[in-house]
Amino acid sequence: MRVPLVAGNWKMYKTVAEAVDYARRLKSSGSPAGVELAVCPPFTALLAVGRELAGSQVGLGAQDMHWAEEGAYTGEVSPLMLKELGCRYVILGHSERRQHFGESDEAVNAKVKAALRHGLVPIVCVGETLAEREAGRAREVVAGQLRGSLAGLAAQEAGNVVVAYEPVWAIGTGRTALPEDAQEMSAFIRALLAEMFGREVAGKVRIQYGGSVKPENAAGILRQPDIDGALVGGASLQVESFLAIARAAAK
Ligand code: PGA
Repeated sequence: MRVPLVAGNWKMYKTVAEAVDYARRLKSSGSPAGVELAVCPPFTALLAVGRELAGSQVGLGAQDMHWAEEGAYTGEVSPLMLKELGCRYVILGHSERRQHFGESDEAVNAKVKAALRHGLVPIVCVGETLAEREAGRAREVVAGQLRGSLAGLAAQEAGNVVVAYEPVWAIGTGRTALPEDAQEMSAFIRALLAEMFGREVAGKVRIQYGGSVKPENAAGILRQPDIDGALVGGASLQVESFLAIARAAAK
């Protein structure tokens, strides 16, 4: 049984004070049963949010990291640093990083391996652009990203990965994939994982959907058999809407 994971990707939102206030309210609201929750604040707020959430069931995640443990990489943050702050998750290969910061599948792959080496659960993002979908290339693009990002993993490592299917055209646009389309791509991703790592591993991997998930559309998407939770941007910024989505995910 895969426990759904609903993770909030805060992107570049919330000061430390705002983040702490959110974490306090989230903790006092209590998490719904049957679903795992995580919040991914900006680096600057990780320490304070981690402290606030201590003793709760809500996991802490980062939005990116470097693959090296340390080194002359100005502006970067290492897996060791994230572990020290109590992170359980790290989002890797988000389309905004691929798009605006030129992140390649090779870089994502190095980061995924580093995360696993350090006991962090990578949330690996894949997804096609609108042009790619319209050209009928959605599956091909997603398959390429998945193979590239997970290349060289041992089957037993791959079982710990979370995959987030996030069609780029649905992120922050208010346009969500139809539940059937999201299900179809998730089933395709699972079949690919089975081909790469075996059926048992593929059956364990959680596949999230992301892209304009809101309380109003969450139930239809989260009820799909191959969708195991959501990666939520905008709607995760308020405790109430984040929890409403979490309740919809609880199977
Ligand atoms: P959105 O973002 O929910 O605001 O569309 C999702 C994401 O980028 O992970």
